[in-house]
Amino acid sequence: MFIERKFPNTRLRRLRRNNNLIDLVSETSLTSNDLIQPIFIKENLNGSEEIETMPNIFRYGIEKALKEIEDIKNSGINSIAVFPVIDTANKDSKGSQAANSNNFVSTAIKAIKKEFPDIILIADVALDPYTDHGHDGVIINNEVDNDETIKILIEQSLILADSGADIIAPSDMMDGRIGLIRNALEQNSYKNTILLSYAAKFNSKFYGPFRDAVGSASSLGKSSKSSYQMSSKNKEEALHEVAMDINEGADIIMVKPAMPYLDIIHLIKDSFKIPTFAYQVSGEYSMLKLSINKGWLESEVMLESLISIKRAGADAIFSYAAKEISMEMQNK
Ligand code: PBG
Repeated sequence: MFIERKFPNTRLRRLRRNNNLIDLVSETSLTSNDLIQPIFIKENLNGSEEIETMPNIFRYGIEKALKEIEDIKNSGINSIAVFPVIDTANKDSKGSQAANSNNFVSTAIKAIKKEFPDIILIADVALDPYTDHGHDGVIINNEVDNDETIKILIEQSLILADSGADIIAPSDMMDGRIGLIRNALEQNSYKNTILLSYAAKFNSKFYGPFRDAVGSASSLGKSSKSSYQMSSKNKEEALHEVAMDINEGADIIMVKPAMPYLDIIHLIKDSFKIPTFAYQVSGEYSMLKLSINKGWLESEVMLESLISIKRAGADAIFSYAAKEISMEMQNK
């Protein structure tokens, strides 16, 4: 596809002479519709508390969360991803609360959907908010047991669908869970529940601040998720994961983290041509935000990072900066 380009007939700077020209020929666009705001909702909390390792990001009690969601909507964002922060007293080795139909997250989802019926609500499927060891599944014989975990994930999924979640998002990386969850949804008349599979989720240290936020960091200690999350050295395996999940009934595929894995996003979008989301995770957010707050980087780096993720091929992006960026775009 090489076309000969010769100076001075070709001067690429002609199209860079002012911002209107630059915008006119821009290949990538980012709008509020492309952004999803994750939100932490904490059991038994009144008001809100800032997360130490995530500047400007808070855990909200349910009342305060409803106010925050109003703000998110006013910023132009229509989609949120809800992450519960569970009381230590309600955690156990099996993550039993995940399968309790009156648990905190189901109450929270109902309250949110009652007040904001049109908001697209995405709920995480995994046991880590509920386990006292911080793993995404149950441990049997010193291993996170794939098949026993899936049994609980199915119950968790049905509860989330029943509570009113529009999209349920298994982030646990067990093999075969998409197919089994899809079957259970079909059999229980949740045929329109959308499955967003964290298909290519890497074993990443960039999740550190999130684990502080939900309290799984201290539970996990030195234990690693490398027996289920992907190695950062692999990309063909990501194609394999995605192919499996599409065959099993996933509607949308997620790549996570985003910026250190732009090649994966690109490869997946290019290969499968299906809705592909990316998650700008807590560590990505915090390193940028902290540098911005300290004046070491200009605030535009946040938008630039999101553009890079879109350019790589993501259709939508989970980002802790979603509301803020969307407000900036509205005011332009
Ligand atoms: C776990 C889960 C994680 C994130 C979302 N769901 C962390 C992990 O795998 O330990 C990370 C998100 C982030 O870092 O922002 N089910």
